[in-house]
Amino acid sequence: MTKTVLLTGGAGYIGAHTFVALAKAGFSPLIFDNFSNADPDTPARIAQITGAAVPCVKGDLLDKPALAQVFADYDITAVIHFAAKKAVGESMRDPLAYIENNSVGLINLLNEMQNHATRAFVFSSSATVYGAPEHLPIPETAPLSFANPYGFTKLIGEQVLEQAASVNPQWAVGILRYFNPAGAHESGLLLQSPRNSAAPPENLMPRMLEVARGEQPFLTVFGDDYDTPDGTGVRDYIHITDLARGHVLSLQKLLETGQGHTVNLGTGRGYSVLEMIAAFKQASGQELPHKIMPRRAGDIASCYADVRRARELLGFTAEYGLLDMCASSWAGAQE
Ligand code: UFG
Repeated sequence: MTKTVLLTGGAGYIGAHTFVALAKAGFSPLIFDNFSNADPDTPARIAQITGAAVPCVKGDLLDKPALAQVFADYDITAVIHFAAKKAVGESMRDPLAYIENNSVGLINLLNEMQNHATRAFVFSSSATVYGAPEHLPIPETAPLSFANPYGFTKLIGEQVLEQAASVNPQWAVGILRYFNPAGAHESGLLLQSPRNSAAPPENLMPRMLEVARGEQPFLTVFGDDYDTPDGTGVRDYIHITDLARGHVLSLQKLLETGQGHTVNLGTGRGYSVLEMIAAFKQASGQELPHKIMPRRAGDIASCYADVRRARELLGFTAEYGLLDMCASSWAGAQE
């Protein structure tokens, strides 16, 4: 029998791509999403890719009866937990909403899993838990901190899971620290930002796409006076298809061994904002007008992953490069 995997936030950018990867690997994914930051037609788009119906429940993790109903209705083997608010700037304006949504949502989910003896859990964490890293590339053993309420919720999420797993050895928890996801599924059907979203995108690639589509006159480059080769911020951009595959490998490992892990998902290479603009031009033919502006509050100079543990433990290596990320994003943005 195929194993049912509950994807909270499964209609979002990373969730939808992971759904496709799980289905391809022989799992039966199931979406639970409140659609606060996802397009209503995402399940139909996933179905176009997988060629099968996409089970989907609209619900919120803060709604305990709705959550209990999903666990009653389906025989859930494992959970991958994506559902969370993720905009750093917004989290600074409304910290309580972030903490309630991300932390209370997680605890409601874990309690429900406990009621149903579901113990395999993959958590969407972030390189944000490394704060301003002292050493590069960043190993999983680096000191942890946070710089904003969003980062705080990721860090306490990890710690809540550590506590839950430490008293009950049946729990197998995979903590995946994402670096900077970019790119899109080769079909061009899955989008990074929902259309008609009330909140403008904050991440670099969606902003580059807005400029390329002519919706914004220029890209704002946040600072060119960092201690990096060209002065602009350096990040480890990982193709969403690689990131999605990392979830499948993590889940397979948890189910196979019953042991948890904490793993970086990145490429191990950093690229600057100016390198991203150049790569986008090479991949799409689109020139991106840009202006250097002051640094954005809370940004760090450089961040890229030590990828050895992901390789040794999960057999994970990123396969796609920057040009693939830019070309697939641009293809998706034009439909
Ligand atoms: N940048 C610009 N202009 C923009 C947007 C971004 O110059 O319009 C720059 C940023 O200053 C940074 C780089 O592009 O140097 C990447 O910025 P993003 O906003 O895309 O990503 P961040 O690295 O700031 O944040 C991402 C995730 C967070 C996560 C963090 C650390 O969005 O959720 O990585 O892992 F916390």
